[in-house]
Amino acid sequence: MASASSLILVTGGAGFIGSHTVDRLVADGHRVVVVDDLRTGKRANLAHHGALSFAAGSPVELVVADVSHGLFAPLAAVTAAHGPIARAIHLAAQVSVVHSLANPLVDVAVNYVGTVQVLEYARAAGVKKIAFASSAAVYGDTPVVPVVEDAPCRPLSPYGVDKLASELMLGAYAATHGVAATPLRFFNVYGPRQDPSSPYSGVISIFADRARAGKPLTIFGDGQQTRDFVYVGDVARAVVAAAMADGGDGTAMNIGTGRETTVRQLAELIVGLAGTGVAISHAPARAGEIVRSLAAVARVQATLGWQAEVALADGLARTLG
Ligand SMILES: NC(=O)c1ccc[n+]([C@@H]2O[C@H](COP(=O)([O-])OP(=O)(O)OC[C@H]3O[C@@H](n4cnc5c(N)ncnc54)[C@H](O)[C@@H]3O)[C@@H](O)[C@H]2O)c1
Repeated sequence: MASASSLILVTGGAGFIGSHTVDRLVADGHRVVVVDDLRTGKRANLAHHGALSFAAGSPVELVVADVSHGLFAPLAAVTAAHGPIARAIHLAAQVSVVHSLANPLVDVAVNYVGTVQVLEYARAAGVKKIAFASSAAVYGDTPVVPVVEDAPCRPLSPYGVDKLASELMLGAYAATHGVAATPLRFFNVYGPRQDPSSPYSGVISIFADRARAGKPLTIFGDGQQTRDFVYVGDVARAVVAAAMADGGDGTAMNIGTGRETTVRQLAELIVGLAGTGVAISHAPARAGEIVRSLAAVARVQATLGWQAEVALADGLARTLG
């Protein structure tokens, strides 16, 4: 275990999952260095931690920098003054599958080269462990339901390819340089601070935003497509557990609830919780949309002792709250 005074690096720590991860680390007594270029993340997501500077007494230091350009220069001043990085949580990414299809080179630069930059820093600086945000997108349209980690990976987008390539590179560094790493394949993460502004954001943030505003919800297709929706606080707990556990040879683990919910069920739950009585309508199915997505969760339970705890109705109430 890291001592409570160790510095923990969280790339992408000003984002949705990242800021919940920082909250968890701070609650556990850690000092956290966030590297984020604020392209989708926000200072406001961390504002409850004060000035975001160790010198000003905050448990969080925010370093505004692009991970794809390397970590040595941005981290030099903070590590010289406050000690080395013990463990790293790499969440910074270009997060849109659609954007990755339109701009594959940006995706490679941020999501693949960015991971290699984190690995190069970890190798040189003696970081003990890296936890990495991978994605269920690595599986593509697999017919295996629930999907086990050993199912064939045939990603359908540059985003999925770059997540899988990053996993493989983590495994290579673990084998050749002894940098312990655990990639976590997140399923559909939801909760407070998720940004609903893009049409490609998580369906829950879009539905919640519209239901609160009294606007109708639109389901693409018949609504029978399923997802494994996992609450962000549970995901942050998994990420921290992976970062703090010693060892890890790059073997990936699914992070989901192991429970399947149809998009129609989801819409009805959200309308009921919002209490605004909005209508639910249907639009033509989106081309290429995956029909079923469900995580097999035995590996993470056995390895990290983690399982999701927040039931969907509770998590939705916290999200709408
Ligand atoms: N939300 C989900 O359902 C989900 C599912 C699977 C995987 N993931 C992965 O989880 C991680 C966090 O995603 P999120 O949902 O919190 O999205 P987010 O957009 O809120 O967080 C991403 C963060 O990374 C930062 N960032 C992006 N590019 C950067 C760069 N080049 N340098 C430094 N910082 C950069 C952004 O500013 C942002 O703060 C990502 O790696 C994403 O691919 C998320």
